[in-house]
Amino acid sequence: MEDSKRKDAISLFYLKYGFGTRCLHAGEKIGQPKSKAHTNAIFQTSTFTFDDAQEGADLFAQKREGYVYTRMGNPTVVVAEAKLNSLEGRDIKLADPENVRVSSLLFSSGMGATSTLAYALLKPGDVLLRGRVLYGSTDVFFENILTTYGIKQVIVDTEDLRETEKAIKKYPKTKLLFFETPTNPMLELTDIAETCKIVKAVNPDCMICVDNTFATPYLQNPLTLGTDIVMHSTTKYLSGHGTIVGGALVTRHEWVKNELYKIVKNHGASPSPFDCWLLNLGMKTLPIRVEKHCTNAMAVAKFLETHPKVERVYYPGLPSHPHHELAKKQMRGFGGMISFDIKGGYASAQKMMDNCHIFSIAVSLGCVDSLIQHPASMTHSGMSPEALAAAHIGAGLIRLSVGIEDVDDIIKDLDHALKMS
Ligand SMILES: Cc1ncc(COP(=O)(O)O)c(C=O)c1O
Repeated sequence: MEDSKRKDAISLFYLKYGFGTRCLHAGEKIGQPKSKAHTNAIFQTSTFTFDDAQEGADLFAQKREGYVYTRMGNPTVVVAEAKLNSLEGRDIKLADPENVRVSSLLFSSGMGATSTLAYALLKPGDVLLRGRVLYGSTDVFFENILTTYGIKQVIVDTEDLRETEKAIKKYPKTKLLFFETPTNPMLELTDIAETCKIVKAVNPDCMICVDNTFATPYLQNPLTLGTDIVMHSTTKYLSGHGTIVGGALVTRHEWVKNELYKIVKNHGASPSPFDCWLLNLGMKTLPIRVEKHCTNAMAVAKFLETHPKVERVYYPGLPSHPHHELAKKQMRGFGGMISFDIKGGYASAQKMMDNCHIFSIAVSLGCVDSLIQHPASMTHSGMSPEALAAAHIGAGLIRLSVGIEDVDDIIKDLDHALKMS
């Protein structure tokens, strides 16, 4: 498809500009009609017409480039894909200026992206190594669904590089290593560059994918640190306003992109044009939003750390966080997500959440406004009690997605709710 080739070229072209400029301009002109409209058109269409019967036959036979049907591609989707290429491929030209073609595909949800990845890369008998703490549905998909297709799942504590090394040596049939950093909801970090070195030295064919949803490409670029694939729930910071559900995979390998495309066009987790239009709009303000999320979250984490009702705070920006040094090395900021254990367990957690006014009680994260939720009974409730315990997701754990409201108002809201708990 012509536009899909152009999107890779265009995103590389934009690598010469700064991150903020790319957020605004990369991808914008792909596939647009010559109307002189300043902003992009939305191609809200299921299908595309052919000039004649032969063109239809040629497009299906892939003898010509062009759009056929929105499940298989759409110009509005390609605009957002090109922008994301340019953001995740941030510094990659420095590492490999000639050969790297970063390419992204968008999906109808983050889970659509993760499941497409698994179906594309794994077959019966293969091994999936996965981080110990993952978003609840990712955990359930790997544990309860993927294993029914004959794929062996091995849980590895990726924060401990020795554990990763042991596992990759023990399971030579490993085809995919998948982890989050920072993790949802414990905000633990894995050293991406070291992990890639260790894994590739033992098994160069093992694909490594990082779920970069919490960090966003503004704070962290796993491809630059050596991974093969980056996954996003675009529902979160990338779109930023809580208006869509979407997902993305970005890869440095043409063959991976082709395998993913083969699956998604038939398996069908393709995104809607309107959602991609909103995503594209959201990505334009990513840097300024994430900056504010980071400064607000740091102030909130410091406030919580000294609060008498709080047992423990999990935020990589705090010097007390066990991976603070790694966060400084690997990330450009510490993000907008915080978890904390409240004294008094589930009853206190419920009371506290019920007494928030600025924070909405809601799952999801990365919106401009603040959200609060209880992982054990909400986002991670699909996990077994043993798995929750192993992940240290306790009854008193509360997760905050700190928004970009005035930070004094956020802190007052939390202080009031904690007093009422
Ligand atoms: C870290 C992470 N990965 C993946 C997902 C799944 O994304 P989606 O809800 O868009 O399917 C989520 C959702 O909360 C998440 O937090």
